Amino acid sequence: MADDSDVLSDFDERLLQGVFARVWRYLGESADSTLPVTTSKSPQELKNKLELAVGRTGIDVDTMLSDIDDYLDESVKTSHPHFMNPLWGGTNVASLAGEFITALTNTSMYTFELAPMATLIEKEMVDTMLKLVGYKAGEGIFTTGGSNGNLLGLLCARDRKFPDAQRVGLGGKQLVAFISEDAHYSTVMAANVLGIGLDNLIAIPTDEYGAMIPEILQDVIGAEKRAGNFPFCVIATAGTTVRGGVDPMVELAEICHQEKLWLHVDAAWGGATLLSPKTRSLLHGIDLADSICWDPHKMMGVHLCCSVFLVKNSGTLGKVCVHTEKAHYLLLEGGTNVDLGHMSLQCGRRVDALKLWLAWRAKGNEGWATQIERYFSLAEYLVTKVKEHTRLELVVEPSMTNVCIRYVGYGINEAREDSITMGIRNELISTGRFMVSSSQIDGRPILRAVITNPRVDEKVIDELISSIVEIGGSLASQ
Ligand SMILES: Cc1ncc(COP(=O)(O)O)c(C=O)c1O
Repeated sequence: MADDSDVLSDFDERLLQGVFARVWRYLGESADSTLPVTTSKSPQELKNKLELAVGRTGIDVDTMLSDIDDYLDESVKTSHPHFMNPLWGGTNVASLAGEFITALTNTSMYTFELAPMATLIEKEMVDTMLKLVGYKAGEGIFTTGGSNGNLLGLLCARDRKFPDAQRVGLGGKQLVAFISEDAHYSTVMAANVLGIGLDNLIAIPTDEYGAMIPEILQDVIGAEKRAGNFPFCVIATAGTTVRGGVDPMVELAEICHQEKLWLHVDAAWGGATLLSPKTRSLLHGIDLADSICWDPHKMMGVHLCCSVFLVKNSGTLGKVCVHTEKAHYLLLEGGTNVDLGHMSLQCGRRVDALKLWLAWRAKGNEGWATQIERYFSLAEYLVTKVKEHTRLELVVEPSMTNVCIRYVGYGINEAREDSITMGIRNELISTGRFMVSSSQIDGRPILRAVITNPRVDEKVIDELISSIVEIGGSLASQ
């Protein structure tokens, strides 16, 4: 067998050794809560620091390792204990190992021939997740994210309503689909890409928890039909991006059944709650949906990108991901039962199932349940702390682990509360103390802290509260 010195040039060998040495350093630094979570430089400051242009000749390995050091130094530490910004965070090392191996073995998922074990792993993961949803059969495919999962859901819905549209287009028919006012913006992109027309994606009002109001949906469907339009799909959300609302899936499924509409559930964020017997009832009725997207790269902490699209009826994906006979050179005769390329909108497709599989093998079902339950109990802890503090308002009773907070205070008007709330976020980020996101609820800014990082604990939450209150107090006194 060839040893390293036969296979790798001196450059390559020193590069890989240097990179792996940095893995340990980076993981250690990311865990250190006394270091900033972000360097928070402006684009110009960062540009001034870096040498980004590629040159006529190549660089030496030391320069390359120094480029990599810059990259690591300037990256946001997404597994830092104070990283609570998006709906993902933390490092699951089994998943990281999967990422390394995926890159090392560099292949594409279209055929079993090119990705033998990866194909079986992807199918195993899909089957496992179908069962967790409660589907008796079904099929699924890994996609690049919930955004593409929502696109596929809408495509399946369009195909069921107008199977001919695939060949002849929509022929001027005004299709209408329904989302909630709190739905993720990817649903809008999906309507755009599919030529549905943005005005034909109708946003239904939500209640105080961010859940779609089914009675209004029913009325709006009726009005659209009377106007001569063609309702074809409801996209429900199980865990909305800002408030964490969960749409009432049983009621929505009843409406969809009566009206013959496809029900797609965007469970990009909330899907993970199916992993614990204590939280899965939150998604009651999800098995009534026709299709679902679920992002293991969110609450499960698997590395980006890792997302699964699931559909109740087998055979659906092969029909909607149509490519006529053009791929004869790729997809082999007789391979259709095993090759996943027939079921995807992508051609080249990364092996994203491996990292999920390794993470699942490492944790087992019980490990996932413990992780999800811990996040929910930490979110409850944060909620209690917010409620206890006179300077803080809990803007929504959360259904998931997104906690929406506003700074308030005696004698401070709404406009001032809003500017202090935004000022707190700016200060937290510019000093690298914490990363939480900001958003708007009912037209007013809020801070959204998300519990989805295994390094967050009660002490971190106490520090977050005291940082918010301290910065808010100092802004209020100016
Ligand atoms: C509810 C919801 N759906 C879909 C998405 C999009 O997911 P992705 O970023 O994986 O495309 C998000 C992203 O945050 C989300 O919050």
